[in-house]
Amino acid sequence: MTPKPKPKRFGEGDAVPSLVPPAIAAGSLAALGQPTLEAGGGALLRPWLISDAGGVVEAFRDPAIQRWHVRGADSLEEAQGWIRRWQSTWEDETEGHWAVAGAESGALLGRLSLKAWNLTDGTAEVAYWTVPAARGTGVCPRAVTALADWALDEGRFHRLELAHSTANPASCRAAVKAGFTEEGVRRGAALHADGWHDMHLHARLAQDGRGSCRPAGSASPAGD
Ligand SMILES: CC(C)(COP(=O)(O)OP(=O)(O)OC[C@H]1O[C@@H](n2cnc3c(N)ncnc32)[C@H](O)[C@@H]1OP(=O)(O)O)[C@@H](O)C(=O)NCCC(=O)NCCS
Repeated sequence: MTPKPKPKRFGEGDAVPSLVPPAIAAGSLAALGQPTLEAGGGALLRPWLISDAGGVVEAFRDPAIQRWHVRGADSLEEAQGWIRRWQSTWEDETEGHWAVAGAESGALLGRLSLKAWNLTDGTAEVAYWTVPAARGTGVCPRAVTALADWALDEGRFHRLELAHSTANPASCRAAVKAGFTEEGVRRGAALHADGWHDMHLHARLAQDGRGSCRPAGSASPAGD
C-alpha cells in the first residue's frame, strides 16, 4: 500500500511547525529595503531623517495631533530618539515609518507608518498625521494610497488595517478616500489620554480596488 504523503510543513526549526507558508518570507522586506514613494501633488514618502526632529516637535504642539496620539515629543532630543527608532524598525521587519515631505521644499507635511507587521498572515496597521498647514489638501489619503499600493503589491502584504476613534471623523474620511473599506466598530479598543475610545476599523486587502486618491500618473490595475 502506498503511504499517505505527509502534509508539507513550514518552519521545521520551530517547536510547532506550521502547515501553511508565511504570507511574507522572513528577511524579504529587509532585503527589499524601505522604498521612497511618490504621493502626488509634489509630496513624497521617504524614510525619516534626524534633521526632521524639529518638525516633529512642532507637529506635536498641534492639539489635534497630540489628542489622537498617546505619545508626545516635547524636545529635540525626544524627537531624535523617536526618529532613531523609526529608522531601525525596517531592518527588524517589525514596522515601517515614513515622513511625508514636499519633494522640492523638503518641508515636513506629515507622518505615515505601517505598524505591527505580522509576516505569517501578511498584515500591518496604518497610522498617520498631517501638519495643520497641509491639511485639507488630500495629502494624507494620497500618501496612504501610494503606500498601500506598494505594500499590497511589491511588499506582498495581504491585509492592511486602519483604525481611528469614532470621535475622529476627519481620519475616517481620509481612510475612505484612501480606499480602506469600513468593517465595523471595536468597542473600547484604545486608551487615549481622555479615556477609552471605540475604534472604527477599516481595511484594504490585496484583492480590493484602489482608493480614489491615487497619485496622478500612477497606473491603475486592469479592472479597477
Ligand atoms: C486626519 C488627518 C490625518 C487627515 O489628513 P489630511 O491630509 O488633511 O486629509 P484630507 O486633505 O483628505 O482632509 C480630510 C478630509 O476629512 C474631512 N474632514 C475634516 N474634518 C472633518 C470633520 N470634523 N468631520 C467630517 N469630515 C471632516 C475633510 O473635509 C476632508 O474630506 P474632503 O476632501 O472630502 O472634503 C489630519 O486631519 C490630521 O492629522 N488630524 C490630526 C491627527 C489625526 O487625527 N491622526 C489620525 C489618527 S487615527
